[in-house]
Amino acid sequence: MIEMALFFDEPSRTFGEYLLVPGYSATACVPANVSLKTPVVKFKKGEQSSIIMNIPLVSAIMQSVSDDKMAIALAKEGGIAFIYGSQTIENQAQMVSRVKNHKAGFVISDSNVKPEDTLADILALKEKTGHSTVAVTDDGTANGKLVGLVTSRDYRVSRMSTDTKVGEFMTKFEDLICADEKTTLKEANDIIWEHKLNSLPLIDKDQRLKTMVFRKDYDSNKENENELLDASKRYVVGAGINTRDYAERIPALVNAGADVLCIDSSEGFTEWQKITIDWVREHYGDQVKVGAGNVVDREGFLFLAKAGADFVKVGIGGGSICITREQKGIGRGQATAVIEVAKARDEYFAETGIYVPICSDGGIVHDYHMTLALAMGADFIMLGRYFARFDESPTNKVNINGSYMKEYWGEGSNRARNWERYDMGGDKKLSFEEGVDSYVPYAGSLKDNVTLSLNKVRSTMCNCGVLSISDLQEKARITLVSATSIVEGGSHDVVLKDNNMVEYMK
Ligand code: IMP
Repeated sequence: MIEMALFFDEPSRTFGEYLLVPGYSATACVPANVSLKTPVVKFKKGEQSSIIMNIPLVSAIMQSVSDDKMAIALAKEGGIAFIYGSQTIENQAQMVSRVKNHKAGFVISDSNVKPEDTLADILALKEKTGHSTVAVTDDGTANGKLVGLVTSRDYRVSRMSTDTKVGEFMTKFEDLICADEKTTLKEANDIIWEHKLNSLPLIDKDQRLKTMVFRKDYDSNKENENELLDASKRYVVGAGINTRDYAERIPALVNAGADVLCIDSSEGFTEWQKITIDWVREHYGDQVKVGAGNVVDREGFLFLAKAGADFVKVGIGGGSICITREQKGIGRGQATAVIEVAKARDEYFAETGIYVPICSDGGIVHDYHMTLALAMGADFIMLGRYFARFDESPTNKVNINGSYMKEYWGEGSNRARNWERYDMGGDKKLSFEEGVDSYVPYAGSLKDNVTLSLNKVRSTMCNCGVLSISDLQEKARITLVSATSIVEGGSHDVVLKDNNMVEYMK
């Protein structure tokens, strides 16, 4: 028999070619009851993943998408940003550590005096910062030993000389209600409420001031009920790595506090990825979590799962800025890839008892594509274009012909020059581009957009009669749509209203 190349039986398809068919919805099927929690890293049957996101979204490992600002905004909503690796190790580690050190609601005191300072100093400080609460520390710094607090209730300018020493009229430490530095924001807010305080100083065991929590911030803190925190109540953050400098990059990222790493590569079915994962296991055992990819088929998934990847990322050529398919002729329709890899994941789970979550990466255009990706088996979804449009992405907002746009460029573009992502060995250079430099329409804040998109996902899940992602994966009913019925899906055979153009008849 003559050996021939393998031809797949089915054409490879993308999300836009499918729709969900509603299932029976019981009365309990309401969006408020839907849980979007999802595992990020592998776990054994009967156990739980050590990282579970509250929403199934992660932001792409890209210069134009994921820096520390994006990571904080996304963790607040319950997802994870993977800080881009196409920068120096030092810069990337700094971004990670800025996320880990950011504590929403915990403010480093910006108005501080010593007991020997005077009322005049307090008044000057109030004028400068606009804040009426002043911490009194032994050395007048934000982290000195806390000896008292001054608020406007402690003095009357009309009754006191401005050279009165702070130590004489401050509320003394002994009379203050303080809390330990490890107090959670919720606990701090409870103490503030219970004792009718305006502010709560958090101190360490040596009475040194760490941070303050203010009553007036309560509403904004309360908003983030989905926020994704680690065991020390710090935001969870991911980081991209490559298969070249991992021996230096990984220790720096781990020391900075990265919770999960991901090998960022356009094609992950390679020995390079196994060598990188082996290195992680040799140096950190299972302590360091590392995802791998990207793959688009069963073989690629099984290779990375067996190599020990904590999750596997799926998708080649479907990214909005991606020109890999036209440059190199490789890739696979994103839906087909996810469906096949999800099946392989389930078989691998049945055989080994190890569940390796999969992430659908790239190609989400409409919000309903998110629901489809999950229904087809993705545990979570990585998005670039989607997040690039928000205030929190690291790129410039520009005005083009009266419309606001944000810049968005691929990691394989000349602008990013992320040669490691496209590395198949050989020279350290990008010999041709696999991505473009582009604009995307500006869309406002991450919070507003993510809330809206996920409300749609929850609502569709209710139409399918399910309340969790795992239920959706088991029970979803998915149909292919014909080219003609895709036309039927948008508004059609009507003239859309544009009030500016209307001239009303008398
Ligand atoms: P999007 O959400 O459709 O914009 O796709 C984002 C994904 O595209 C990323 O997570 C990467 O997997 C992929 N990607 C990023 N940069 C490039 C590139 O320059 N060429 C090809 N794919 C890219």
